[in-house]
Amino acid sequence: MTRSYNRREFLRQAAAAGVGFGVLGGLDFRFAQGASERLQLAVVGVNSRGHALAETFARLRDAHVAYICDVDIRAVSRTVQAIAALQDRRPLGLEDFRKALEDPALDAVVIATPDHWHAPAAILALDAGKHVYVEKPCSHNPAEGEMLVAAARRNKMICQMGNQRRSWSKVKEAIGRLKEGVVGPIHYVRCWYANARRPIGVGRPAPVPEWLNWDLWQGPAPRVGYRDNVVHYNWHWFWHWATGEAGNNGVHSLDLARWGIGADYPARVTSAGGRYYADDDWEPPDSQMISFEFPNRALVTWEGMSCNTVGAYSEGFGALFQGENGSLRILPGNGYVLYDNKGEEVRTEKEAGDSPDASVVGPGLGYDMVHAWNFLESIRGGEAPASEIEEGHKSTMLIHLANIADRTGRALKCDPETGRILNDDEAMRYWKREYEPGWEPK
Ligand SMILES: NC(=O)c1ccc[n+]([C@@H]2O[C@H](COP(=O)([O-])OP(=O)(O)OC[C@H]3O[C@@H](n4cnc5c(N)ncnc54)[C@H](O)[C@@H]3O)[C@@H](O)[C@H]2O)c1
Repeated sequence: MTRSYNRREFLRQAAAAGVGFGVLGGLDFRFAQGASERLQLAVVGVNSRGHALAETFARLRDAHVAYICDVDIRAVSRTVQAIAALQDRRPLGLEDFRKALEDPALDAVVIATPDHWHAPAAILALDAGKHVYVEKPCSHNPAEGEMLVAAARRNKMICQMGNQRRSWSKVKEAIGRLKEGVVGPIHYVRCWYANARRPIGVGRPAPVPEWLNWDLWQGPAPRVGYRDNVVHYNWHWFWHWATGEAGNNGVHSLDLARWGIGADYPARVTSAGGRYYADDDWEPPDSQMISFEFPNRALVTWEGMSCNTVGAYSEGFGALFQGENGSLRILPGNGYVLYDNKGEEVRTEKEAGDSPDASVVGPGLGYDMVHAWNFLESIRGGEAPASEIEEGHKSTMLIHLANIADRTGRALKCDPETGRILNDDEAMRYWKREYEPGWEPK
């Protein structure tokens, strides 16, 4: 049976969901021939980002959120409730997402857990024959990223990373213009992120809350006792489970930088900075300057400012491409500014109604719908994934290399073909992690 899902229908649903029309400009919303049924999805990790993604997918008529999975039973019931109000059938709530993988009718898994679960959960899902949408960063360490790409390839499944700007119309237009040479050859890309994060204190051992399965939350990570300043969200600031601000937010703009200059891996990586704003348990830098030297005569830097919102150009997020004939700055939302080589603004392109949501769940939830739609359409065979996992992995590798440079306190020399660290056994110790016995990804 042929089913078409045309642009008018999509716009009607998007309007009902409160999404600006302009963001959809230039896309033809039509599913591939032969698509006869809704794609059945499981969403894993629904406290915050995953909750928003579950709502986003539930609003797309061609998807049905069949399972809501979380080790926090409160998050499960809250999200099941919200999704039941958006679609005709109530999703099933599960504590252990691995049960959903046993369902032959399940098509795809959306993963928004903490970082240490991203690649292991994605590999389990791919090996179970499911397509995967995995949040950024797609891995906790370089070896896991390589395993994830291999799992997508051996199973021949779609695997998309959640760096949603790859689907935003004006961002795509900006990158297209850079590739056409609008600023000439690019030699410097300056990226940044700023926020006003509060201290996380010094955690104390505490009983595991009755609403949490702490063993399954830890999953592949070696076991540690429960402490009262980790769940939820604060895990971002512990190397054991996370990748710091670079992995949390740097990966978004560094992905744009890599895309814009058309490079894979750097030849040299440095990182400076530290945890300066508080004496607490937070391990990665809260103030960080990372540099990447790419072999195509381009320097890329990323400034992480976790505890001061000033940023640059009065914006908390950006990527400024400086070329021989001008510059182009990608805005936090769906837009960009072009400058001549005197620094004068010559053109601003911005979606009407653009209002990036500064909340913790994401920078513009309406726009996420386009990335989510691209994932579904890729499964149906109508489009290529906007952020296929190999590209997601290369961008995630940038933050892993930077974090390794930070943790070793050394400049890293890398093979620009593979991203492998050269002649540094100590740095290579961070290439992979220790696993809880029995939980190693295969
Ligand atoms: N693309 C974006 O713009 C964007 C925005 C926000 C967050 N994120 C990413 O989303 C991920 C989640 O971030 P968050 O802020 O929602 O974190 P969070 O800590 O608020 O939520 C994570 C959830 O995952 C659950 N979880 C942990 N282990 C699980 C397991 N084995 N099975 C099922 N659920 C499990 C936790 O209980 C929690 O509910 C992070 O990796 C983050 O980088 C992406």
